[in-house]
Amino acid sequence: MARAFLERKELPEARLEADLLVAHALGLPRLGMLLQLDRPVEPAEIDRARDALVRRARREPVAYITGEREFYGRPFCVGPGCLIPRPETEGIVDLAKDWMRQGLVPVDARILDLGTGSGALAISLALEWPKATVVAAELSADALAWARRNGERHAAQVAWHLGDGFEVARREGPFDLVVSNPPYVRRADLPSLAPEVRDHEPHEALFAPDGDPDAFLRRLLEGWSQWMAPLGRMIVELGYDQSPRVLGLLRQSGLEGELVRDLSRIERLASAWKPASAS
Ligand SMILES: C[S@@+](CC[C@H](N)C(=O)[O-])C[C@H]1O[C@@H](n2cnc3c(N)ncnc32)[C@H](O)[C@@H]1O
Repeated sequence: MARAFLERKELPEARLEADLLVAHALGLPRLGMLLQLDRPVEPAEIDRARDALVRRARREPVAYITGEREFYGRPFCVGPGCLIPRPETEGIVDLAKDWMRQGLVPVDARILDLGTGSGALAISLALEWPKATVVAAELSADALAWARRNGERHAAQVAWHLGDGFEVARREGPFDLVVSNPPYVRRADLPSLAPEVRDHEPHEALFAPDGDPDAFLRRLLEGWSQWMAPLGRMIVELGYDQSPRVLGLLRQSGLEGELVRDLSRIERLASAWKPASAS
């Protein structure tokens, strides 16, 4: 019934989502629910399932309804006011760990997550890298509340800062590693976004300042000497069409770097560091 309802609403993942939402309403994992199909259902559970399905039919993201999304193998609490962490952002953690293994970033690194949202990056890095000092900055008080909650949930040592991340970078730096998944969507692209994103996720997390998808990256690179340690490195997530301009921006800032593709073969991350001759 739940699946048929979501199919009628033309949700492409109706089957999976119906299972997830009903399991959530029953307080069971999805597999647990599928193994207990003959379990009696309480009226309150039916009400909760109906409410969840109606919310989904209105295109509210599943993660906001269940209150959770997995990132780097760990559950993160999410809800209105904070961006739902995306799988492609996990590449930042992978690259940071590669650098740590190669000794390119020290084990006791000072790390900044600029624009932390749910705290997914800062917390994952703090847990993967226990000797590091992790600082996270966020402009939105609502988002930072989710980040703090996730930090407590995972007992992660992160120093949370509410405010402009560039100010925090200047004040709390220098950093050995700065990571950021900044807002990079053009406001003009609003109509093409899925309703789940357009109508529910915070616009300040999505849309690039001044309508310029490169603005955040440019500012991060231009202020390099204000927040980076001499051998510091940076990883910034990119929008799908940003990469052709990135190597030029790095050159203009006197930096070296590489582009890293995501699983869909899109150049998704820009990495940057000072050339050896300059440090
Ligand atoms: C695309 S979201 C990324 C959230 C999280 N890092 C992730 O990857 O899921 C960008 C975040 O940056 C925050 N933000 C935008 N401008 C900022 C600024 N100048 N200083 C600090 N945070 C900022 C937004 O509020 C939003 O939470």
